[in-house]
Amino acid sequence: MNRWFMINGIAILVSVWALFTVNDLGLRHAVGGLGVALILFNWTRHAVFTTIRENKSREVKIRFAQLSKKVLPFHRWIGTSAVVVVWLHAWLVIDRYGFYWAHPKFLVGFITGSLLLGVATFGWLRLYWPSGKKRMLHLYLAMTMFCLMIVHLIL
Ligand code: HEM
Ligand code: HEM
Repeated sequence: MNRWFMINGIAILVSVWALFTVNDLGLRHAVGGLGVALILFNWTRHAVFTTIRENKSREVKIRFAQLSKKVLPFHRWIGTSAVVVVWLHAWLVIDRYGFYWAHPKFLVGFITGSLLLGVATFGWLRLYWPSGKKRMLHLYLAMTMFCLMIVHLIL
């Protein structure tokens, strides 16, 4: 286990809190919640990779590497579904409020959704044409997107 599992645990608590404190709960919130769940599932890969790198026990490394391998076939489809689900959420939001740029929640959500699109694009690119640069872009875009998602939920 490492700090990233704790950070992801806090992210789950923030999401639950955000959803339970919504007034006028609607489909757009439920769809947004599904988006959070899909993203957090994929982002946990980072916690697993960090554990493999930092843990000294060979047994733990092997256990986590095996787990990571099992999840890999789902990773790409869960990530791609997250893009579809999140933009469905955005569509429902825009349908209700229009392009409400002055609202920080809308603006941050829009940036987060755009970064997610970048994460998925570089995910597919690195799958077929791997390179160090694409790996870093996939990872750093995902990290920025994760942080902005938390800001989006708190706002
Ligand atoms: C990774 C991307 C995103 C995730 C995971 C996400 C998730 C959520 C969730 C769970 C909520 C309900 C909880 C709350 O109000 O705090 C919410 C609300 C909201 N989201 Fe997003 N969202 C994302 C992207 C977007 C995008 C792209 C937009 C706009 C284009 C957007 C605009 C909004 C707005 C305006 C609300 C408030 C809706 C209301 O209270 O009626 N979000 N989002
Ligand atoms: C919610 C969206 C996504 C998130 C948060 C995410 C996050 C991550 C993270 C944190 C890693 C480990 C990074 C590393 O240290 O190399 C990773 C690896 C990877 N991701 Fe994604 N990803 C997402 C979507 C996708 C999509 C749509 C694809 C499409 C193919 C993809 C393909 C890959 C590949 C090929 C790897 C390397 C796997 C391995 O070597 O075991 N990702 N992703």
